[in-house]
This record gives sequence, structure tokens and C-alpha cells, in this order.
Amino acid sequence: MHWHVYLLLGFCGFQLGGGASVYDATGRLNLSATCPDVFCHVNNQLVAYSSTPALQVLELHLTNCSRQSVAWLVLNLTPSLRTLVIRDCASYHISKESLRPVANLTSLQMQRSSLGVLRDELFTTVPRLLILELGYNTIHTVHSAAFMGLAKLQFLGLQGNGFQEIPAKTFDALAELRHLDLSGNQLTDLREEIFAKNTQLQTLLLNGNNLGTLHSGTVGSLPNLQLLDISHAGELKFQTLTLSSIQTLMVENSQLSELIISGSLIRLHAANNELSNIQLGNKSLVLEMDLRGNLLDENDIPDLVRGMWNLERLDLSRNRIESLPMHSSGSSEGPHFQELFLLPSLKYLNLANNQVVRLPPDSPILSSHLKILDLSHNLILTLEVERLTGLPNLESLFLEGNRLSSFDYQVFHHQHEGLQWLGLHDNSWGPGLYRRMYTYFTDRGVHVHGNTPQTSSSLVDTEGQAEAQKLDPVGVSGIHPYWTLRDILAFVTLLVVLAILLMNLYNILEEEGCLRRFRRWRRSNVPGGATTTTRSRARRLNEQDSEPSSSD
Ligand SMILES: *[C@@H]1O[C@H](CO)[C@@H](O)[C@H](O)[C@H]1NC(C)=O
Ligand SMILES: *[C@@H]1O[C@H](CO)[C@@H](O)[C@H](O)[C@H]1NC(C)=O
Ligand SMILES: *[C@@H]1O[C@H](CO)[C@@H](O)[C@H](O)[C@H]1NC(C)=O
Ligand SMILES: *[C@@H]1O[C@H](CO)[C@@H](O)[C@H](O)[C@H]1NC(C)=O
Repeated sequence: MHWHVYLLLGFCGFQLGGGASVYDATGRLNLSATCPDVFCHVNNQLVAYSSTPALQVLELHLTNCSRQSVAWLVLNLTPSLRTLVIRDCASYHISKESLRPVANLTSLQMQRSSLGVLRDELFTTVPRLLILELGYNTIHTVHSAAFMGLAKLQFLGLQGNGFQEIPAKTFDALAELRHLDLSGNQLTDLREEIFAKNTQLQTLLLNGNNLGTLHSGTVGSLPNLQLLDISHAGELKFQTLTLSSIQTLMVENSQLSELIISGSLIRLHAANNELSNIQLGNKSLVLEMDLRGNLLDENDIPDLVRGMWNLERLDLSRNRIESLPMHSSGSSEGPHFQELFLLPSLKYLNLANNQVVRLPPDSPILSSHLKILDLSHNLILTLEVERLTGLPNLESLFLEGNRLSSFDYQVFHHQHEGLQWLGLHDNSWGPGLYRRMYTYFTDRGVHVHGNTPQTSSSLVDTEGQAEAQKLDPVGVSGIHPYWTLRDILAFVTLLVVLAILLMNLYNILEEEGCLRRFRRWRRSNVPGGATTTTRSRARRLNEQDSEPSSSD
């Protein structure tokens, strides 16, 4: 007699994303009629569902059911489901029974759903899972057989939870795993063998943990690893990281002093370490190296970059470099020593905040393809512009914060017509030079970093330009660099006010009859042809004549 099975699910109201909700005669939600398509979004949980299954639904999103637990029973109505997304729901736990009705599930995402524990064999009822994303829950415990049966899983996201350890063999079942995100947890240790069975792993994210150590064997033996992120991963006590080949390596803020990669590398982001030794087996693929804030000096650079024919971006700012590498520099034992030292692809070179004193005439690091060269905050005393003639593509040059007193700026500009950005402030420029250069370059469309120099003060050439960069002159008009739009508006306003005042004065004079009298007086005097002075002298004489008694 019962055509309907009641699924009592709570007492909240509900909304369905997309189409209108359809109810049956007894007031229960007809999911099949409400979601006639493959995609179904239920926002907030509802009271009850009709029993008609929604066989067509392949993707179901359950969101915002924070006040009650997830209505797992709804899955009985959607046996064809491939993708299940549960977000912002208080679920606390999943059981393998609740997932049994959706055995063909390939993607499961549960985010911000208060999940606390991953128990053993939780996902054995959904063995076809490819993507399992459990980020931003409150998982504090992971049992060692939690991922058992997920032989096809390729993507596992556990980021932003709170677990401190992962038991041995936890990932052993995941033979096909490609992407593993463990970032933003509180991991203090990783067992050396933890990824031993995950030979397909391509992406491993360990950033933002509290790791005290990282055994080289833990990450070093993954044959297909392409991206490894161990930035901000804790007070790593390791000094040396040894890897085979990798595409992208991120090891920022990791106190690393030595990096040894036996194969190749494409991108290296290793800012803020203590690196003084980097060894790379195969340099020909390197495109980008960010080595800001390390301990590299001029003796390390030639051996490091020689042979990097594809290198496009090199950031060596905040190191200990006192001079640029020359063709002959570098250790004579290196395997590449015999090769011509060339960096033909280098477009971006940052040497800011080092101790470079001079620019040598022919450094191979100054590649002819350079577009951006940052030499700011060094100790450069003189800069011969001929040293820059080999850089025809230069678009940005930063020289601020050095000790330059002169610069052949006009010759420089003729050599580099394509220049767009220039940093010159904070040097020991001769009197007025900074202002002249500023005007010169601004007039020619070059953006000069730094504030508009103040007139009539030679001090500004050396001081007070530090934060100028942010105060880039706003609204500079084409008239003159020191006339801003505001100045022009103020000037126009003054002219208008002056005109109004003059008109008022005219009106007052008109009303008082002054003008009439003046015109009459002019008319009576002009026909006589006498000049004003003679007329007035004549009048004075007449006045004297009319008072003869005063003096006698
Ligand atoms: C739910 O809707 C479907 C399709 O519109 C219909 O076939 C089915 O009978 C409805 N179920 C109930 C219980 O009303
Ligand atoms: C989620 O539910 C709460 C109340 O339960 C409501 O205030 C909020 O607007 C809902 N958010 C969305 C995105 O529906
Ligand atoms: C699950 O997939 C298999 C194979 O593709 C298929 O035979 C089966 O009917 C599917 N089950 C459901 C409930 O859709
Ligand atoms: C460097 O890597 C490239 C591309 O993988 C390869 O073709 C080349 O043989 C390697 N060179 C050396 C010296 O290993």
C-alpha cells in the first residue's frame, strides 16, 4: 500500500539550485521531477523525499546543511551518481554503508563538513573513486586502512585539516595516485617509506606543515614526481635535499643549504633559504629560478647557470654577490667548463640587494635578450652606458639605491628607445641631475620610478625618494611635468572668479553713475586735442587763478 518511502531528514527548509521544486500529493519532494537533468543541487536539507528514484542524476551537490547532519539516505534515490559534492554541512563522519547505494561514484568532495576521523575501510563501497577531496574539514585522525580498496584513486586532497601524523602504509593501497595534497596540516614527521608504493605520484604538496625532518628517501625516490612543494613546511633540519628529476620544486623558507638534483629541473622556487650549493645534473631544461634571499656569492653563480640555455627568469636578489660572472670564471673542474658561457634566453635578471660594485664590460649573464634588469640597492659607483649597449631589448632598468653620481642619460636613451621603466632615485646624483633626468625621461614617455623631484632643492636628488615609487605622479598632463591636472583646474577656477569680480565691479560702477560721468568727461575733453598732462596742468593753473587771495 505504501508507494512512498519516507525519508525523514530534518526540519529545515530547503532550496534547490536551478529549477523549481516539485512536490508529490503528500507534500514530499519529488527529486526525480525536480532534477530532470543530470545535475542536481540541493541547498539546505529538506523534510522528506518521494520514493521515485532520480536515475538520471549523475552529479549531486548538497550544500549548506550546517544545522543537521548530511542526509545520506538521499543517495538511495540516485544510484547512477558519479559525482557527489557535500559542502558546508555538519557530517562528522561517513560510513561505508552510507556510500553503498552509489557504488559507481568516481568523485567525492566533502569540504568544510566537520569530518573528524577517517576510519578503516571507509571507502571500500566506492572502489571506482578517482577523485577524493576532503580538504578543510577537521580531520585529526587518519587510520592506516582508511583508503583501502581505492586502487584507482588518482587525486587525494587532505589539505587544511589538523592531523599530526599519518600511520605507516596509509597510502599503500593507492597505486594509481597522481596528486596528493597534504598541505596546511600539522604534520611533524613523515615516515621514510610512506610514499613507497605511490610510484605514479606526480604532485606532492607538503607545504604549510610543522615538519621537523624530511628524509631524502621520502620524496627522493618518487620516479614520476613533477611538482614538489615543501615551502613553509616547518623547521626542516635537513641541510641537503637530493632528488632525481622534477619539473617544479618549491622549497621556500625551508632553511635548506644544499640542493642536489641528479636529473633535470624546469622551475625552482627556493627563496629565503641558506642555499650556497646547488647542483643540477641536466641544466638544459631549466626555465626559471627564484633564489631570492640565499647565501650565493659570485663564485657560485658561473657553475650554476652555465649551460642553462633555456633559462628565462633568474632572481638572485638578496644574496652575497659582489661581481657579475665573466667568461673565464667558474671552477675549472666543472663538466661544463669547456663550453661557451651563454644564457641566450634570459629575459629577466634580478640582482637587487647584493653588493655589486661595478658592471663589467662583457658579462655573459647580461644576455642580449634581457628585458628587465634590476640592479637596485647595490654599491655601484659608476655606470658607463657603453656597458649596456649589448642589451638592445631592455624595457626596464632599475638603478635606485646605488652610489651613482653621474649618468650619461641622453646617450643611454638613444641606445634604448624601447625603454619603459627606469629607477634612478636614492643615488648620490650631482646637483639638479636627478631633476633633469626625471624631466627628460618623463617627457619621452619613460615611467621613472620615484616621486616628482621638488624644485629648488638639490637634497631631493639623494634623499627622500624611497617610497616615491608608490606616489607616482598622478594626472601628469602633457603641458609640463610639474603642472598637474589639479594645478590647471585651480588656475582656471581663479580666472573664472576674476572674471566674475570684474563684471561685478563694472555693474557697481554703472549703477553709481561713475561710468556715465567718466564718458561725459572724456567726450568733453577729447575734441580739444590736448594731451592729458597739458590739460591737467591747465586746470591746476586755473585753480590757482581762482584763489588769488590765499598766498597774498
Ligand atoms: C515524481 O515525478 C516523476 C516525473 O515527473 C513522476 O513520474 C513520478 O510519478 C513522481 N512521483 C511521485 C511520488 O509523485
Ligand atoms: C545557509 O543557511 C543559513 C541558515 O541556515 C542561511 O542564513 C544562509 O544564507 C545559507 N547560505 C546559503 C549560501 O544558502
Ligand atoms: C555501474 O556501472 C556498471 C558498469 O558501468 C553498470 O553495469 C551498472 O549498471 C552501474 N550501476 C548503476 C547503479 O548505475
Ligand atoms: C637532459 O634532458 C634532456 C631532456 O630530458 C635529454 O634529452 C638529454 O639527453 C639530457 N642530457 C643529459 C646530459 O642528461
